Amino acid sequence: MQQRFLGRTGVRVSSLALGTMTFGKDDGVDAQMFGMAREAGVNLFDCADVYNEGNAEVSLGKLVAPCRDQVVLTSKAYFPTGPDGNARGTSRYHLVRAVEASLRRLGTDRIDVYFLHRFDEATALDESLRAIEHLVSSGKILYPAVSNFAAWQTARAIGLAERHGWQPLVCVQPMYNLAKRQAESEILPLCHAERIGALTYSPLGGGLLTGKYGVHARPEDGRLTQWPMYRTRYGAEGYYDLAERFTAFARERSFEPTALAIAWVASHPDVTAPILGARGPDQLAACLRAAQIDLSAELRAEISALSPAPAPATDRNEEGVTNTLGSR
Ligand SMILES: NC(=O)c1ccc[n+]([C@@H]2O[C@H](COP(=O)([O-])OP(=O)(O)OC[C@H]3O[C@@H](n4cnc5c(N)ncnc54)[C@H](OP(=O)(O)O)[C@@H]3O)[C@@H](O)[C@H]2O)c1
Repeated sequence: MQQRFLGRTGVRVSSLALGTMTFGKDDGVDAQMFGMAREAGVNLFDCADVYNEGNAEVSLGKLVAPCRDQVVLTSKAYFPTGPDGNARGTSRYHLVRAVEASLRRLGTDRIDVYFLHRFDEATALDESLRAIEHLVSSGKILYPAVSNFAAWQTARAIGLAERHGWQPLVCVQPMYNLAKRQAESEILPLCHAERIGALTYSPLGGGLLTGKYGVHARPEDGRLTQWPMYRTRYGAEGYYDLAERFTAFARERSFEPTALAIAWVASHPDVTAPILGARGPDQLAACLRAAQIDLSAELRAEISALSPAPAPATDRNEEGVTNTLGSR
């Protein structure tokens, strides 16, 4: 598997990362998936405090113990970890406890990349970043990062860190797949301009692009059927039409839809690594086969044409067209 630098850190990470949102339910399944990922060359493992109520961190922590210094570990905080009104968000109060709790569950002395899991409207951003800086200087976090932030929120965080001399953000974690392309309009260009890494999640649209969904195909045990949040996220009929057209396109060209959907995400020049998600070893094997697909620019363009590109960041784009006033 290829490796890439994570933003401008000089840290090498694999071009596919393994997500552990499904970890913490069955130790045997987790161990098998972890072993397969390591065998394939994955060195980047994404986690969060809320995955299976902390059990994903416990499971991942046991698995990485023998190879802790050969892997890059992430975790995150924002979502509620208990009924208390302060056990959530990105206040200094919560972040300090959240990091300490994650370290305990992971059984390690540092978290390599730590994400604010979501922008917190109730907490001043400088409070959150100052708390992160404190955790960096005490050695508990190596690199700060943000997830699910809009580009302007990320840009504010970059500016605050610069102004105060805090450890800069090293990467972002937006959603990105053929059905959800918002990141293309501002977040990925921001990553390019600032040399920030992009570890993108949900490369398969929660399973939408694996070949098992279509206009009349809704597997009963699939996440988009079972999990209300995902049913809402991918509720519009157009997504299932896209799933069908993408599956047909992949099969006509003798690709597995799962591997091709992930390879399409990975082929964006500003994506460092898509984060894979799988319920078990068989699913993961198909995801890992994405590493064997070297997508040409032409094939990427053909796949991109299957779904609408997001609107550009500004409405005035005439200058980009040749032979108009102002074109260069
Ligand atoms: N920062 C954030 O807010 C955030 C949010 C979400 C995820 N993440 C991270 O990103 C990782 C991946 O996200 P994701 O799970 O949403 O990724 P995804 O690739 O879009 O969806 C994974 C799901 O697709 C289905 N699937 C995977 N491979 C398959 C195959 N070969 N055949 C059929 N179905 C298959 C499985 O669900 P079913 O079996 O249920 O169909 C699996 O759980 C997570 O583990 C987590 O680390 C971060």
